[in-house]
Amino acid sequence: SLLTKRTMLIALIVPDIENLFFAALARCLEESCQAAGYELVIANSNDRRAVERDLLQHVVARGVDGLFLIPARESYVDEVGLREDVRRVPCPVTLIDRLVSAQWCDGAGFDNVLGGALAARRLLEAGHTRIGCISGDGREGSANRRRRGFADVLEQAGVPLESMLDVAGDYRFDGGYAATAAMVDNGATAVFCCNDLMAMGLLRGLRERGLSVPADMSVIGYDNIMERFGMQIEVTTVEQDVAQLARAAWELLSARIGAPGEGHPWLAEPRTRVLAPCLVDKG
Ligand code: RIB
Repeated sequence: SLLTKRTMLIALIVPDIENLFFAALARCLEESCQAAGYELVIANSNDRRAVERDLLQHVVARGVDGLFLIPARESYVDEVGLREDVRRVPCPVTLIDRLVSAQWCDGAGFDNVLGGALAARRLLEAGHTRIGCISGDGREGSANRRRRGFADVLEQAGVPLESMLDVAGDYRFDGGYAATAAMVDNGATAVFCCNDLMAMGLLRGLRERGLSVPADMSVIGYDNIMERFGMQIEVTTVEQDVAQLARAAWELLSARIGAPGEGHPWLAEPRTRVLAPCLVDKG
């Protein structure tokens, strides 16, 4: 209304609108917003820093009451730049899913180190000793936290992740597909993919080589998006419950909207909610 200058709009910036994980999360966030009388508007950064910055500066500034931000891959590995961008946003901000390591903003996400550890334990229990990993981009992002949790458990079990089986992916189908040769040529019997889209790319690569899962290779994914597609794919995955994540994020953001205080109190005393992922065993 004019009195409160509220727009009753909440913005959500996602990094990859084609990834069903983010679509499902957006749907849950929309439900929370609508239940409280807000509309959710969605924008896609396509994992690009420049696009995200433009959205933060121009779209959000046109007037929203709050912002959910899932940082672009190019941004969340550069926390200083990201922080500068977020500081200029004239409304409360809650980071979702891709949390920053220095806590300077409210955020809700899953424990990625734990998720990687769950995957490693499962593959070790199954008796694998040549295990590969398709992770992120070599810096400290969510995929690399997963890789770290995974590699630590393998190391403790005396089967360290070998460098030729430790491949950087990109959270996209193509990254998983491109890593197939390295996994097959170096004799991996099991591969942990740091998200399901890369697992799907790897499955395509294996099928083209006449190999099948799990007979020729075990594959573990991350997100549990296959089930949402209704696909009968026998790929064990580390699930992140999007409904739970959306609820936690809305609790954080809604508590800031209209809260007393000048400037950006949410930057001074940030709150973080870290949730536990769980392994969904498909056998
Ligand atoms: O599939 C996209 C991935 O990016 C998810 O696993 C999510 O947690 C993220 O950071």
